[in-house]
Amino acid sequence: MDLKKLELVIIFLLMIPTVIALVKGAPFVPTPLKAVRRMLELGRLKKDEKVYDIGCGDGRIVHLASKEYGANATGFELSPLIYCIAKICQPFWKSKAKIQFRDFRFQNFHDADAIFCYLMPDTLKKIQKKWDKELRKGTRVISYAFPIGNWKPSHKEAKNPEKNQAPIWVYEIGKHQ
Ligand SMILES: C[S@@+](CC[C@H](N)C(=O)[O-])C[C@H]1O[C@@H](n2cnc3c(N)ncnc32)[C@H](O)[C@@H]1O
Repeated sequence: MDLKKLELVIIFLLMIPTVIALVKGAPFVPTPLKAVRRMLELGRLKKDEKVYDIGCGDGRIVHLASKEYGANATGFELSPLIYCIAKICQPFWKSKAKIQFRDFRFQNFHDADAIFCYLMPDTLKKIQKKWDKELRKGTRVISYAFPIGNWKPSHKEAKNPEKNQAPIWVYEIGKHQ
């Protein structure tokens, strides 16, 4: 195979997970840092708690969760380019968070203390069905911009245009479901 064909094959292979992330999750739109800080506050994180960001983008949520709260934080990212950006940026955050190249739809979150997400409504509806079976009582789920299916939030923060902040929904498993 000549170099040009090989290049095309590699680009095509890299595009597959990127398209899956776009269609099955959400495009990469980072949450503004002020809103991230507010989400972390609402998540009431404690040291060593197991925290996930499903579709972590550049990793900002898990890095701040690790650095400022001492959480055991993991971010899953499926788009190869965004994943590489997250890995390259990691040293600048000086956090112990883990960034993994994974599709969150195939992960089990039974051990989660808190989960953060910023995904499209249809994706959230699907993950709600899975989470109804696997999340344990007391897990906090913090969703930026969109609510999760028909779950009842324990708290809803209205959008704040001054801070460029979309609404934030907070759920506590077992409390209002
Ligand atoms: C709206 S962005 C949010 C990024 C980050 N959580 C934030 O708040 O700044 C959604 C991210 O989810 C990723 N994503 C979408 N579907 C995914 C999947 N099935 N598994 C892992 N990551 C996914 C996208 O590539 C994108 O980077």
